[in-house]
Amino acid sequence: MDVAAMSAGGIWAAPGRVNIIGEHTDYNGGYCLPMALPQVVRCTAMPRTDGLVRVGSQQHPGERVEVAVAGLAEAPVKGWARYPLGVVYEYHRRGHRIPGVDLELDGSVPIGAGLSSSAAIECSVAIALRDLFELSVSDADLIDIANKAENDYVGAPTGTLDQTASIRCRAGHALFLDAGTGETAQVPFDLAAARLSLLIVDTNTPHALVDGEYARRRRECEAAAAELGVARLRDVTDVRAVAALTDPVLRRRARHVVSENARVLAVVEALRDGRDPRTIGPILTAAHTSLRDDFMVSTAQLDTAVDAALDAGAHGARMVGGGFGGSIIALIDAAAKDRVVTEIETRFRAAFFADPRAFVAIPSAGAHRVDQT
Ligand code: GLA
Repeated sequence: MDVAAMSAGGIWAAPGRVNIIGEHTDYNGGYCLPMALPQVVRCTAMPRTDGLVRVGSQQHPGERVEVAVAGLAEAPVKGWARYPLGVVYEYHRRGHRIPGVDLELDGSVPIGAGLSSSAAIECSVAIALRDLFELSVSDADLIDIANKAENDYVGAPTGTLDQTASIRCRAGHALFLDAGTGETAQVPFDLAAARLSLLIVDTNTPHALVDGEYARRRRECEAAAAELGVARLRDVTDVRAVAALTDPVLRRRARHVVSENARVLAVVEALRDGRDPRTIGPILTAAHTSLRDDFMVSTAQLDTAVDAALDAGAHGARMVGGGFGGSIIALIDAAAKDRVVTEIETRFRAAFFADPRAFVAIPSAGAHRVDQT
């Protein structure tokens, strides 16, 4: 059956994202600068009237899940299906009437690459349900619904960066997010005009945020904020203040967050002033050093990819996302792409790492309906 052809249903898409700068700042109330990728998750949705939700995925053929909307809280569902079902549950829990729905997902966002395939699933389902059942929710609600689905239903204690990016990003722009207030601003991001590219290199070492290290970093940041007498580390603006922390681990974690917030502001200022985007390169590299040495979320593969990119002439490079695997970005001259990719591939082969996958990031649209204009 061609679901798209039926007037009652529709197709929605939500993108993955790459974060230009501002890593592990969101849950500290700080700043981030993501952009949406052209890679999306498409959600084909059709209403039902029998109170059931059925979800399938092209990436998991033969694993269709069927649950009563009213029974979602206790449903013993595992794995990928918890992401879409968490969104249905979150609408239901907030009192929105979901009479039943069929959801079919098809994604092109690399999974486990630190490019927010999870948020793309959640946000595609969130806007599909909003439009299909004419639910009155704002964009801020959508972001919150998708985020709570991940935090509470999936059990990954992530911040709001990924869902905000997937909903609010615009083509040709980066999104300046103040995660403390939820406020955002579009920042024109036109690398092509400066003959530059933002290269993404997926190290092909999947990360998993449900495991303990991400949650541990969050707890460490909360402990550091408490000892410094602030509600959130975002409230510390002078990096020298972290010297007051007695525990050397907490000192490092706080130093990363405070310095990273300053780096986001510096990059936003450079872009808004229309400075040569090459000038943000060293700031990206400084972010990597901080994530590697102070926040300690990098891996041998991520470090190797960053070093290789820089040695091959990148203006700046850093790991992206939560860490412990996933991708790096490198700001490169557009003409240098092959040279940079070859250098990374060569070093990965020499180190017996899995083959990396490289592609150029194009700042793309946020979540939208695709079968209507
Ligand atoms: C993951 C989380 C985000 C954010 C990043 C690190 O992508 O989902 O909320 O914390 O890690 O910046």
